[in-house]
Amino acid sequence: MKNIRTQVGIIGAGPAGLTLAHWLKQHGIASVILENRSREYVSSRVRAGLLEQNTVDIYKNLGLAERLLKEGQEHHGVYLNFDGKRIRIPFGELTEGRNITIYGQQEIVKDLTDAWYALGGELYFEAEATKIEGFEGISPSIHFMYQGEEGRLECDFVAACDGFHGIGRKTLPKDSFHEFSTTYPFSWLGILANVAPSTDELIYAYHENGFALHSLRSDKVSRLYIQVDNDDHIDNWSDERIWEELSIRLGTEGWTLNAGPIFEKSITPMRSFFTDNMQFGRLFLAGDAAHIVPPTGGKGLNLAVADVKHLVDGFVGYYHNNSMKMLDSYSEIALKRIWRAQDFSNFMTTLFHKQDVHGSFTYHLQKAKFDYIGISKAYATTIAENYVGLPFDKF
Ligand code: APR
Ligand code: PHB
Repeated sequence: MKNIRTQVGIIGAGPAGLTLAHWLKQHGIASVILENRSREYVSSRVRAGLLEQNTVDIYKNLGLAERLLKEGQEHHGVYLNFDGKRIRIPFGELTEGRNITIYGQQEIVKDLTDAWYALGGELYFEAEATKIEGFEGISPSIHFMYQGEEGRLECDFVAACDGFHGIGRKTLPKDSFHEFSTTYPFSWLGILANVAPSTDELIYAYHENGFALHSLRSDKVSRLYIQVDNDDHIDNWSDERIWEELSIRLGTEGWTLNAGPIFEKSITPMRSFFTDNMQFGRLFLAGDAAHIVPPTGGKGLNLAVADVKHLVDGFVGYYHNNSMKMLDSYSEIALKRIWRAQDFSNFMTTLFHKQDVHGSFTYHLQKAKFDYIGISKAYATTIAENYVGLPFDKF
């Protein structure tokens, strides 16, 4: 395949890569995206669907929120359960009116892909980036395979938005970063079901059988999760058993869970991961390429979009003001929010999962936290402001 030339070469058409391409275009900066999976695969990959206020505002400002605002559901609070007792955290009054919106991640990917092609944007699916070269100097290039032929994308900068398994992070010089990771001793079994949600807002629950979460996708589709062991297998979980367990774990007095046909079922391990440097020369990492958080705080996509914001600030500084200052401090700025999200995601994960035998020391610490949230506006505010996302002007 021919060589291509652009200003910013982007690897990966997940939320990070697509958002970056659109945002750069808004500033008149050209980019080309290489994605090794097919369009169908990427736009049907089921993942979390919680958007912070910042993220919704960004898509609104980019003119990409038409369907999101129509089909997404704005939530003004969240329910927390512990041993069958339920409390509610009201976002509005604790965070000066900031909220979250529930909208499936694959819907965002679909919207951004369609809009990118409609704008005449270049995005090659089934194009695998194989090597990144020259990023220590001023003329980097990305080698890739497309339709059985080798191609080269020459650019001023490379944005590796290529997820946890991508080549971006592996290409950074070994001594330029440290990696930190924790694997949790449990996984999430997630389902999508054709049934009206049994709740108007999300429910996170600790139960002696383990964690459960009730989320939703629309008036007719529910999204739910339960904690399972890491070595558990989906074949052990009939639909009947899943609903029964969800009903037990989410249960509270006077409330019932509606069951319905399950059309998607999968188990995902839980881990925290991050690198303490996300750039070298003209190579930059964004999104899952640089960090993974357990989904309990709903931060994954939002962090990816926040990285992109800082990266866009950097590229705008370079192309419009001839300054490398913002790009040079990209990692340092992005890492503050990443650390915050790591802490909050770990907090939510350890608060609501069964980690030890029910009634242990750890259990009592979890319960003490939950009881405190219920009586302290200060503690509830801490959770609310992290959950809806801290504004960019403050953080
Ligand atoms: N060449 C081209 N594309 C690649 C390559 C490669 N060598 N390696 C990986 N990719 C693609 C993947 O196929 C994937 O579509 O990069 C994309 C990365 O997208 P995501 O994994 O969705 O990551 P990101 O855009 O950072 O989005 C973060 O995804 O995992 C969730 O919770 C996470 O919500 C968060 C979001
Ligand atoms: C989801 O809707 O998929 C979802 C919501 C909140 C989470 C995780 C996943 O914390």
